[in-house]
Amino acid sequence: MSIRDQFPILNQTVYGKPLVYFDNAATTQKPQSVIDTLCHYYTSLNSNIHRGAHHLAVQATEAYEETRREVQAFINARHAHEIVFTRGTTESINLVASSFGQQYLHPGDEVIVSAMEHHSNIVPWQLACQRQGATLRTIPFSDQGILDLQAFQNLLNEHTRIVAVNHVSNTLGTVNPIVDIVNIAHSHGVPVLVDGAQSISHMVVDVQALGCDFYCFSGHKMYAPMGIGVLYGREELLDTLPPYQGGGEMIKDVTFERTTYNELPFRFEAGTPSVGDVLGLHAAIDFMRETGIDTIAAHEKDLTDYATMKMEEIEGLRIIGTAPHKTSVISFLVGNAHPYDVGTLLDKLGIAVRTGHHCTQPIMDRYGIPGTVRASFAIYNTREEVDTFIAALRRIVPMLM
Ligand code: ALA
Repeated sequence: MSIRDQFPILNQTVYGKPLVYFDNAATTQKPQSVIDTLCHYYTSLNSNIHRGAHHLAVQATEAYEETRREVQAFINARHAHEIVFTRGTTESINLVASSFGQQYLHPGDEVIVSAMEHHSNIVPWQLACQRQGATLRTIPFSDQGILDLQAFQNLLNEHTRIVAVNHVSNTLGTVNPIVDIVNIAHSHGVPVLVDGAQSISHMVVDVQALGCDFYCFSGHKMYAPMGIGVLYGREELLDTLPPYQGGGEMIKDVTFERTTYNELPFRFEAGTPSVGDVLGLHAAIDFMRETGIDTIAAHEKDLTDYATMKMEEIEGLRIIGTAPHKTSVISFLVGNAHPYDVGTLLDKLGIAVRTGHHCTQPIMDRYGIPGTVRASFAIYNTREEVDTFIAALRRIVPMLM
């Protein structure tokens, strides 16, 4: 079966036009194997894990823990217990900001984020800083969308406690130089959290090669179900953090006087996890592996280069985010038209893009714009769809100029 045929949702029309789904940075569609895995789980395996002695509970627990080992291998973590299942990137970052903040942030301390972060890698740190009396500092970026590493070096000082940056900007598409950032931060003894929400489906991620201390990602942006995500934490650091949420499974012993906590990773997985979605994540990893991450990356690069070249030929269209090293995200504006108007017209032609600030208001402030239109590609998109998109833009742009 072709890759595209594995995604049943793509085979539909919108307003009488074949659906062109270019909103993959918001969420990817799911292959049949992931859908079948969810169906199989709820028809054959559903059971609560880790606590039951019966057949289904044992099977579900084994499948859940097998997925943890699969994720460990997928991102080359040293240990399976460095993998914590969460609801998504947002929850992973909130967990670290909350627990790390409680343990390591004190009045006068500083946290560094970049100016191109998603709100989910800004607000949790703001909250932690407010609670602990610390200060948030930001790494600026150039008009092209490239982080200023010299400014970053200048921000680091004896008060810096952690650096939190994205691997790839969801709005600009920039691939940030994580190894350089980690090396600079570590030379000051400062750990680094990486928001990998926009990188995990586009490139090989090796957390040991990156050298980062935390890496966060969501399943739903990598062909897996919504509501499941991962926090990778380097054992030596993760093990020093206090629990994030209290509840079942995260404890060793509970009395009314005192509770002791479970070991990694269970200390950070309070309550019943989303077992079916975890198995769906396993199926999504299998899909990516079978397709080949290098194949995915090469195909998306071809679509991005092709679309960028065609878009640059359209007078009145301006691309926001032109770093040389980008993933398959193209943000753009048409003259002074509001991004929402462009998105609505594209939608009427069957083309799904995202419009607005993409949860990155500081990026919009940096450029002095209200938002952008964003097209983002995945492995199942085609050059023919890019041609349809370009033809649509050629119709729309003159109407808005
Ligand atoms: N963070 C997601 C996006 O960039 C929703 O679209």
